Amino acid sequence: MSAAEKNLGVGSPGAGLAAARPADGAGRPDAGASRPSAGAPAGGVSALAAEGLTLSWDGEALVTEGIDLAVMPGEVCCLVGRSGCGKTTILHALAGLTTPVSGRVLLHGEDVTGCPGRVSYMLQKDLLLPSRRIIDNVCLPLVLGGMRRAEARAKAEPLFERFGLAGCELKWPSELSGGMRQRAAFLRTYLMGADVTLLDEPFSALDALTRVDVRRWFVGVARELGLSALVITHDVDEAVSMASRVYVLAGAPSAGEPSHVAGEVVVRRADDAPGGFELTDEFLAAKREVMSLLG
Ligand SMILES: Nc1ncnc2c1ncn2[C@@H]1O[C@H](COP(=O)(O)OP(=O)(O)O)[C@@H](O)[C@H]1O
Ligand SMILES: [Mg+2]
Repeated sequence: MSAAEKNLGVGSPGAGLAAARPADGAGRPDAGASRPSAGAPAGGVSALAAEGLTLSWDGEALVTEGIDLAVMPGEVCCLVGRSGCGKTTILHALAGLTTPVSGRVLLHGEDVTGCPGRVSYMLQKDLLLPSRRIIDNVCLPLVLGGMRRAEARAKAEPLFERFGLAGCELKWPSELSGGMRQRAAFLRTYLMGADVTLLDEPFSALDALTRVDVRRWFVGVARELGLSALVITHDVDEAVSMASRVYVLAGAPSAGEPSHVAGEVVVRRADDAPGGFELTDEFLAAKREVMSLLG
């Protein structure tokens, strides 16, 4: 994968398209183990799991140590932690873009450690290319995967309405609001084709009111499409407002203290609450718990 493609967050060519590519790890002795991960709630195989992920950029200083987490099928989970604690580093490992010092990444129980192209992901700096129309921006993963442009457009076009982008197909990114650009970036991520999606601080550049709308929109679409998603954020409100479970990451790797999962908070969601879930006692209770785990 080129650096440019990595920066676009569109994965390797063919990334996750129909998720047909066998994992490089498929032949490993421990591959294909169909069991819940250490971090998975009881009662099923997780869509995505990290088992004991210890990560380092230089092979010496550890960024994280022994990270266990799991996203169950159809679940939106959040990973929350302070800036610099290693959230993006974890996303890179979960997406197979880097190899851990130790530990494994499991996708539906299969060992995919270090295998790119098996999950869809949207990186923090996931900008749309200014010189391409929205339709061509969102088709990028398909075209990079070898699909002809016309075919890719035909596949993407019917999704514009569902993603709240009807009529924007031929616009330029500069003509769209911040919220619409994020929806287009998410449509592009969706077209990577995997059923597990990782999002790194997806809404942090949006103003507060737009952010609330886009979060709610995202949770609705993820539910409708049956996506399993891990959203990474430093924003506690964002985490609690979107997730059914929040993993709290604590530590300070730059001070020699590798990050670890300090705890997992189960959110008792009440999405039909008047005025929104954010105004409920359940929201506040979960937020308090996350804050206390963050320390
Ligand atoms: N590409 C990189 N090369 C070397 N070190 C990095 C790289 N990216 C991040 N780091 C370091 O890893 C630690 C965690 O960073 P990061 O995962 O980006 O944190 P977060 O996403 O939680 O803000 C920081 O100390 C950071 O300096
Ligand atoms: Mg980050």
